[in-house]
Amino acid sequence: MKKILPSLVFLSCAFCSFAQQESYTPAQSNLQMREWFQNNKFGMFIHWGLYSILGDAEWVMNNENIKVNDYAKLEDFFNPVYFNAHDWVAQAKQAGMKYITLVTRHHDGFSMWNTKYSDYNIMHTPFHRDIVKEMADECHKQGIKIFFYYSLLDWRRTDYSYGTGRTGQGTGRTVRGNWNDYIQFMKNQLTELLTNYGTVSGIWFDGYWDQMAPEAKNRKDSTFVDWHIRELYDLIHRLQPQCMVGDNHHLSPLAGEDFQMFERDIPGQNKSGLSFQKISQLPLETCATLNDSWGFNIKDDNYKTLKEFVDLLVGAAGSNANLLMNIGPMPNGKIAEPFKEKLDSMGVWMKTYGESIYGTRGGYLPLQKWGAITQKGNKIYVHILHHIGAGITLEDFPFSKITKAYLLKDKSPVIIKKVGKELTFDSYNSTPADPDVVIVIEGK
Ligand code: GLC
Repeated sequence: MKKILPSLVFLSCAFCSFAQQESYTPAQSNLQMREWFQNNKFGMFIHWGLYSILGDAEWVMNNENIKVNDYAKLEDFFNPVYFNAHDWVAQAKQAGMKYITLVTRHHDGFSMWNTKYSDYNIMHTPFHRDIVKEMADECHKQGIKIFFYYSLLDWRRTDYSYGTGRTGQGTGRTVRGNWNDYIQFMKNQLTELLTNYGTVSGIWFDGYWDQMAPEAKNRKDSTFVDWHIRELYDLIHRLQPQCMVGDNHHLSPLAGEDFQMFERDIPGQNKSGLSFQKISQLPLETCATLNDSWGFNIKDDNYKTLKEFVDLLVGAAGSNANLLMNIGPMPNGKIAEPFKEKLDSMGVWMKTYGESIYGTRGGYLPLQKWGAITQKGNKIYVHILHHIGAGITLEDFPFSKITKAYLLKDKSPVIIKKVGKELTFDSYNSTPADPDVVIVIEGK
């Protein structure tokens, strides 16, 4: 990763100017959806597909060089008898999440819905049920918004230009089909997804990075294809203007996109090495895993603590971003107990602290070593995530008059001192059970 960093930084600038050339005016309903998205802050990512059977996460086909024909055997084993869309959606709701981003087709090319455009789909498993439909219906019923993850990359199809892409080289394909057929195939599938499943709040693209677009000519380690990306975006907006388009390409946003995502990173941090792109003016989203895997990984017991989970949510909100937290359900259709426990404890936390997350925007100061700030109207929420000894000083505090300062938890008063634009108060200790001490400062 380190080696390609400088060229990518350069490229993101190249993309900026490219993006500007192709203007895009979002519909009013799209702007409203962006506002909704930014106000609601917290979603559930669900990675689920045939790969869950192998218990080695969603890249197993590529990582183990499983041939297309062998991988296809999984289709006959997929029978998640415990799957219950109602319970999954209720679980997200209980955690305080307001939207679900569901994988509809991952890089292995398997479609989780009743698609006319590929036989390799859920209706050809013993399960025979349209999972995307059940989830979308249930989300609509329970008042949760649904987003669809859709992979641009495909390790199975021959019309996806394998041989030029960076991944999926070991899946045994020997002939190469026509790239334009692949583009048409994606358009057909996206049309289905945006026609038969009610209101879709967003499409979450992934896999663009497998082959770079022609604008990225300088990149040495990749090949160039024309993704016809703007045609895909325009198609989506034509079918459902409110539908937010995002693309996990790790570049600055391209024209036609409505939100910008950061994989396993709070915007501006780049701890994962995948987030060197500039932070744009679009709504932002951090996606993260609740253990260390996206798809079900039988060996992965490294679940985040409530503290780590809260740190991520607060860090994202303080950076003006949403948190999309992932679970990887099991092949039997159950969500593993530790995921449920973490989600439930987050739900309890949100009951008290949700006010300092929902409807807020990032703080007037960036993340600090003690924590983060969120704000909404006449309230500034100071989130003390880490005790740093003595006191905390906020410089350039924006309220000239402070009417109240108190702990969000129990409304007990907090003593603050304001000298000019500098505000000081004592630091507090958080605990594993109560990992974020939130001070509310009201004023104007
Ligand atoms: C990466 C991975 C993919 C995962 C995604 C989620 O792009 O390829 O497996 O779905 O990140 O952010």
